Amino acid sequence: MTDHVTHVTHPLVQHKLTLMRQTGTSTAVFRQLLREISQLLAYEVTRGLPMTTKRIDTPLEPMDAPVIDGKKLALVSILRAGNGLLDGVLELIPSARVGFVGLYRDEATLKPVQYYFKVPTELEDRLVIAVDPMLATGNSSVAAIDLLKEAGATNIRFLCLLAAPEGIARMQEAHPDVPIVTAAIDSHLNEHGYIVPGLGDAGDRMFGTK
Ligand code: URA
Repeated sequence: MTDHVTHVTHPLVQHKLTLMRQTGTSTAVFRQLLREISQLLAYEVTRGLPMTTKRIDTPLEPMDAPVIDGKKLALVSILRAGNGLLDGVLELIPSARVGFVGLYRDEATLKPVQYYFKVPTELEDRLVIAVDPMLATGNSSVAAIDLLKEAGATNIRFLCLLAAPEGIARMQEAHPDVPIVTAAIDSHLNEHGYIVPGLGDAGDRMFGTK
């Protein structure tokens, strides 16, 4: 993957995203749409994976057929909203290894603090796809990728649904080697750190909390 930011403009992705943004969309429909979009985004974020061939038998004759090379890739969900993207991507890549990063914001320092970190072994030999639907300030995404690099990851891609220009800039500054795939780049962040126009709190909308 060479482009630093890939904005997926496919009509299916854009149409489903519009439905997700709307206030009247129920939790059940929101979750279903997120699952569907995440599969379309998974197609994009796995573009250009190294390939090899494997000898197989077809009913007519043997052939050297293409397969993805290397170790099973690792999907890492940034809790909790990352789990909504994770589910759909895992359906498409069922053999992927899965990790979780949990961060909360310290209200005094406003810095992300780790409360959970569990990732697959041999991270250094895997493509790692970190997933979080909302790239807002970029603080938690940057912190999560810091932790993944400390754990050995060298080949990381970041998958989100919506990005704010501020979050993209922050990620590009901190982790210029991590390509970003997103379905939309919105206008800006508001004073509460929400993406505008955005879709509200992704976790609340997918889990029906407030
Ligand atoms: N997280 C969300 O869920 N929504 C935003 O708009 C920003 C961060």
